[in-house]
Amino acid sequence: MRIDDQVVVVTGGASGLGRATVNRLAAARARVVLVDLPGTAGDEVADAAENIRFVAGDVTDADDVEQAFRVADEWGPLRAVVHTAGIASPVSVFGENPKEALASFRRIVDVNLTGTFNVVQYAVRSMGQLDPVDGDRGVIVTTASIAAYEGTAPAYSATKGGVVSFTLPAARALAPSAIRIVSVAPGAFDTALLRGAGAQVAGQVPHPHRLGDAPEFAALVAHIIENPYINGATLRIDGAMRPTNV
Ligand SMILES: NC(=O)c1ccc[n+]([C@@H]2O[C@H](COP(=O)([O-])OP(=O)(O)OC[C@H]3O[C@@H](n4cnc5c(N)ncnc54)[C@H](O)[C@@H]3O)[C@@H](O)[C@H]2O)c1
Repeated sequence: MRIDDQVVVVTGGASGLGRATVNRLAAARARVVLVDLPGTAGDEVADAAENIRFVAGDVTDADDVEQAFRVADEWGPLRAVVHTAGIASPVSVFGENPKEALASFRRIVDVNLTGTFNVVQYAVRSMGQLDPVDGDRGVIVTTASIAAYEGTAPAYSATKGGVVSFTLPAARALAPSAIRIVSVAPGAFDTALLRGAGAQVAGQVPHPHRLGDAPEFAALVAHIIENPYINGATLRIDGAMRPTNV
């Protein structure tokens, strides 16, 4: 799928991996609808280029996501959706207070896993109405994590394992509609999500021996959009990292 002049939706685009993706796709002349929570830097990112529009919304909310996709559909044919919105575990899943721990577990599942389903279903609805271009109606990129495989935070890992497990069956289900779905499993990237843990985590990355830069994630996303043969897979981008205690 070509990027230039296509409409794309990027969730979580006000910060980190999503923000770098917004900038990368906008620089490639896509028309980008940036979806992120109210009060984030979405306005600031959108103000920097005329081909970026910010729609404030929560990916767990059906009305918010429907509104964001309405904005995209009105701007032109929506050919790519990159879903990066997500949160890390605020507390250990096995907290001292079981009721608080349950609420916390439900919250992270809601944002990371149910939010993924919510965004994907609206993406499919928009793309399903389009004519195929070079055999593809559109492509959806979701964001898992290497924590799906070697995690140490149980709740977060469970949500990302869900994103990985969702990918292949969704690709099979969407094949008759000629819509691809691919997930990316980042290692440790230098964003707000890692908070103060960056220096400790960077030491566990064999080569390059550093945290990932968000534009490196965005470059992989751009390649996935453009390469029609990538489908139903989760692609790691992690400098060979296999975490032991993050
Ligand atoms: N940074 C890493 O090392 C790393 C590693 C593996 C996976 N990931 C995943 O990458 C994705 C992006 O993370 P990041 O590192 O860029 O973090 P980040 O905190 O910099 O950005 C996440 C963005 O998602 C938005 N968001 C959170 N909840 C939302 C909601 N309910 N609705 C709409 N927007 C919401 C936030 O406002 C923020 O702008 C996440 O899914 C994260 O789990 C990150």
